[in-house]
Amino acid sequence: MTFADQPFNLKKGYNSYKNSLKLQEYLSWCEEWITEMVRITKPTGSIFLHNIPKWLTYYAAFLNKQADFKHWISWDAPTAPMGKSLQPGHYGILFYAKDSKQLKYYEIRHPHKRTRKTHILAKDYGGKKGLLHPYGPLVSDVWTDIHRIKHNKFRDEHPCQLPIHLLERVILMSSNEGDIILDPFNGTGTTALAAKRLGRQYIGFDLDKEYVKITQQKLEYEQPISKIGDRWVSFYLDEVVTLRNNDWTYLKDFYYIPNNPEEIDTTPIVLHNCR
Ligand SMILES: C[S@@+](CC[C@H](N)C(=O)[O-])C[C@H]1O[C@@H](n2cnc3c(N)ncnc32)[C@H](O)[C@@H]1O
Repeated sequence: MTFADQPFNLKKGYNSYKNSLKLQEYLSWCEEWITEMVRITKPTGSIFLHNIPKWLTYYAAFLNKQADFKHWISWDAPTAPMGKSLQPGHYGILFYAKDSKQLKYYEIRHPHKRTRKTHILAKDYGGKKGLLHPYGPLVSDVWTDIHRIKHNKFRDEHPCQLPIHLLERVILMSSNEGDIILDPFNGTGTTALAAKRLGRQYIGFDLDKEYVKITQQKLEYEQPISKIGDRWVSFYLDEVVTLRNNDWTYLKDFYYIPNNPEEIDTTPIVLHNCR
């Protein structure tokens, strides 16, 4: 699997390169590395590109010539105002298969939205709560449950660090234990860290030696621990935020599930005995 969160060409405060190439120069450069990314992805592999919609429209045109479109994932996260425009409210993640006939892909689920204090279901579901999956719905192509890193205490000295559970979600849906995950714009190593936590191998590049050093230091302390029993899952603050659909039969034994499905909104599904 290959994932790229390339520089936006928006004059952000990166350390060591000029982030203001002229449009054509920037786009030719992008086409070059996107072509290389597709070339080195295995036939069963996926290619993901994260960016603001404006740049993704160009990247999709490059990718359509050499890979198979799967999804435009809309990640609900506020982005910088552009002036005289709608307030930008999402980043896009382009998801392409190197070859859709051979693609390795797993359906994934995220937990039901619950109220913070009482932990009851946040939506009414029109009297159909009994039909709900006990853990949560299948993940769609609109992601509203993962937030950007806001607090400085959770971020490195980097202007665009992504949340680790965003990468874990992408990795869980497209790869298996031991597979190789590559990120050509490593930053401070979110992709590599997510890969290591999930028992995958990883490769990352960054022009900036300081970012590479930060990544190496963080990787030293990271372990392949993101599991319940022998199944890989993604955690955020001790709650499982992504799991694979086909792991649920195994994982449900680690949850308390009430007998009466109507109770589902008053009894939290309690995660216990994991990790
Ligand atoms: C948007 S950031 C990636 C942030 C990363 N996803 C994270 O969560 O930490 C883009 C990174 O690409 C690096 N970069 C820019 N041009 C590059 C190039 N030609 N080769 C490798 N890295 C480059 C920058 O130093 C920056 O760290």
